[in-house]
Amino acid sequence: MIRVLQTKTILLGVTGSIAAYKAATLASQLTQAGARVDVVMTREATQFIGALTFEALTHRYVATDVMALLPDSQIAHVAMAHRADLFLIAPATAHLLAKLAHGLADDAVSATALDTRAPLVIAPAMETGMWEHPATQANVATLVARGAVIVEPGIGQLASGASGRGRLADLDDIVDTVRAVLGRAGDLAQRKIVVTAGGTQEPLDPVRVLANRSSGKMGFALAAGARDRGARVTLIAGATSLRVPRGVEFVAAPTAREMRDAVLGAIGDADALVMAAAVADFRPAHTAEQKIKKEHAERLTLELVRNPDILQEVASRLPPADRRALLVIGFAAETQDLLAHARAKLKAKGLDLIVANPVPQSFGADIEAATLLTRDGAAMELSPLPKEELAEKVLDFVSAKLARHSLNENSTMARDTGSG
Ligand SMILES: Cc1cc2nc3c(=O)[nH]c(=O)nc-3n(C[C@H](O)[C@H](O)[C@H](O)COP(=O)(O)O)c2cc1C
Repeated sequence: MIRVLQTKTILLGVTGSIAAYKAATLASQLTQAGARVDVVMTREATQFIGALTFEALTHRYVATDVMALLPDSQIAHVAMAHRADLFLIAPATAHLLAKLAHGLADDAVSATALDTRAPLVIAPAMETGMWEHPATQANVATLVARGAVIVEPGIGQLASGASGRGRLADLDDIVDTVRAVLGRAGDLAQRKIVVTAGGTQEPLDPVRVLANRSSGKMGFALAAGARDRGARVTLIAGATSLRVPRGVEFVAAPTAREMRDAVLGAIGDADALVMAAAVADFRPAHTAEQKIKKEHAERLTLELVRNPDILQEVASRLPPADRRALLVIGFAAETQDLLAHARAKLKAKGLDLIVANPVPQSFGADIEAATLLTRDGAAMELSPLPKEELAEKVLDFVSAKLARHSLNENSTMARDTGSG
């Protein structure tokens, strides 16, 4: 379940593109993530994929005709237009873009688009020639000027067999865009959140590294969750193979020293720093310039030196935790004495919150058990839950704390100015 999609009604418009079959996966993904999905289709779209497919996936009525009525005699496209929280048109044909730009309304999709006041997200798909045509580009510009969000088509193989720009965007990018647009005015709007993720890699030679088993899933879930609540997010990641969530600023920081520089560079105007990365404590004292050859030795002894302690450096550069604007959240991954180590780290680094999680079982897993410990001594033990949901709990803390900060600041200002 994705929190920003729960209780939301997403209207999915499907038009007559070869990519229409991909809309079935979108409908399924959005439904499984917790959204109610209403589908409207053009007549041409039904030549590519049947309405029955969408009815079966969403368990809801699908409108394919602008003249259709619901069983209770309401006009289908009007009722759907009015109850939508967001209108996603994917795939959108060149023809449909032209209709939208000019306000035509002679099919279920364009008529619904004209009547709804929900935000519009459009994912076009077409041959390169159609996409690049000045008429299509002018239509897209018109729609953008009216506030529509376009998920640009990608480059790849097209229906004609040719390769070029025009392919429907990656479905994960489309879902990310829907989430970001729905969350624009969320409880972290106007806030900047810096998140670190993944394990660092310390080079031994040009081809080998000292690494750890962190997958980056927790930090990526935090970054996506903060974006879904309207935050500006900088995601600083070590080694990870995960897809970068759309709508976040991404900084690659493979080594601890690069991560330190990236974090110190990003926190200047941030409201919160969430350090979910597994940063190597040590790195090889020397990095060989050429690949180390086994023929040169029977034994190899590595000399390691301490890496910078990023949280310690952050803490030393900022005022004490109770007087600073930046919230700092850390993670403690321990194989033994988890809570004792976590409490000690919380205190030593002046953190506002620490997420204590047992390793190695949580590395790479989708589900994680954790205990949240705060500076005032409170502890919240969470039974195993998906990393997305754990991320939301951490962000609930961030949101509540930042709201309290703002309240305190406002009341101090009101006192200082003698008002209120
Ligand atoms: C096999 C096939 C694939 C097509 N794929 C696309 C496409 O990807 N994008 C597009 O704009 N038009 C595509 N067309 C043309 C549209 O189906 C045509 O312009 C139609 O009028 C669009 O209707 P609609 O916008 O009302 O759904 C395709 C046509 C055929 C026969």
